[in-house]
Amino acid sequence: MRSLLVTGGCGFIGSNFILYQLEHYPQQRIVNLDKLTYAGNPENLAEVEDDRRYHFVHGDICDRAAVVELLREHAVEAVVNFAAESHVDRSILDSGPFVRTNVQGVTALMDACREAGVQRFVQISTDEVYGSLGPTGRFTEQTPLAPNSPYAASKAAADLLVRSYFQTFGFPAIITRCSNNYGPRQFPEKLIPLFIANALADEPLPVYGRGENVRDWIHVTDHCRGIDAALRRGRPGEVYNFGGDCELRNIDLTRRLLALLGKPESLIRFVEDRPGHDWRYAIDASKAKRELGWEPTIRFEDGLRDTITWYREHADWVERVRSGEYRSYYERQYGRRLSRSVG
Ligand code: NAD
Ligand code: TYD
Repeated sequence: MRSLLVTGGCGFIGSNFILYQLEHYPQQRIVNLDKLTYAGNPENLAEVEDDRRYHFVHGDICDRAAVVELLREHAVEAVVNFAAESHVDRSILDSGPFVRTNVQGVTALMDACREAGVQRFVQISTDEVYGSLGPTGRFTEQTPLAPNSPYAASKAAADLLVRSYFQTFGFPAIITRCSNNYGPRQFPEKLIPLFIANALADEPLPVYGRGENVRDWIHVTDHCRGIDAALRRGRPGEVYNFGGDCELRNIDLTRRLLALLGKPESLIRFVEDRPGHDWRYAIDASKAKRELGWEPTIRFEDGLRDTITWYREHADWVERVRSGEYRSYYERQYGRRLSRSVG
């Protein structure tokens, strides 16, 4: 697999994946197609900009004709699709871009791949397509899809379309579904980077509801290793779950972050809950372990400490990201909530 197209490579997981590939596969050539939405930051890949194996293209996965041309020009053998609108709260404010990129974009991309004869396609999906768990049990690949947010529904729609392309056309697609990622280069709208950035600036941390919702956290590098295993060793038509085996209530995670940052718990604000807020996610990744020989390796304590160090050392990155469009989103999402917070 000499030539790989990564879409959405300027975002959080895509940029970590590209750096991982270039580090571990000296012969790998990578084309990165990214629309550069608010979440796409070419700075994430500044260190490989001059690497002759890496090529950036500014474009949209919805543009089928342009993608076909790109696939042919670079003789692309495999595609890994990270391109997406990825934030639940934004999907509640406006679901339009989610349907466009996460649903229509995925079909346009798969059609382009079929036309150009791509040999392998990996769709990066999420555990959120399974909906919400009660206090026990974990999601397996057999768990029925029951998405609760517009974001999750758009990802589930894409998963069903990918499945249908495999069944109907024999399209060589694999789906991966992962739990909540954390690590360097994550846009500070998601819980961990948002709370680190706010705490470093001595600003309040808006915890939704009572902070009792549970997420299963995985370091982005472990996720990238899983995607790499699925890309190279996965079976077309299959779904693989990845999780970090690290379930935490949001409030416990928040307290842990504050302790590591040396900041007071008085920064915590309990604010109005997210509508339709999924209660708990937990992943059973035994299939990935059995079939791909994958398991998470980074201990949460170590990963979290390194992530905090990264954000401390990249204050300028955070500052640049937090200016511009992000400011108006933050005001829309949190302005009223924080003015009415309940302690
Ligand atoms: P992100 O928001 O950080 O990055 C998304 C990237 O896609 C950005 O660079 C953006 O510019 C690009 N993009 C958006 N629309 C595009 C389009 N139409 N054409 C081309 N590029 C476009 O997202 P992320 O957190 O890195 O997530 C990547 C993928 O992983 C997503 O598909 C997401 O659903 C999935 N996922 C994320 C998590 C998580 O915890 N972050 C967990 C499981 C799965
Ligand atoms: P998030 O990082 O948005 O990921 P997801 O919704 O995809 O799981 O949120 C993680 C958890 O943190 C989720 O239960 C919602 C909660 N949360 C807050 O309490 N406050 C916040 O400001 C954000 C962004 C999230």
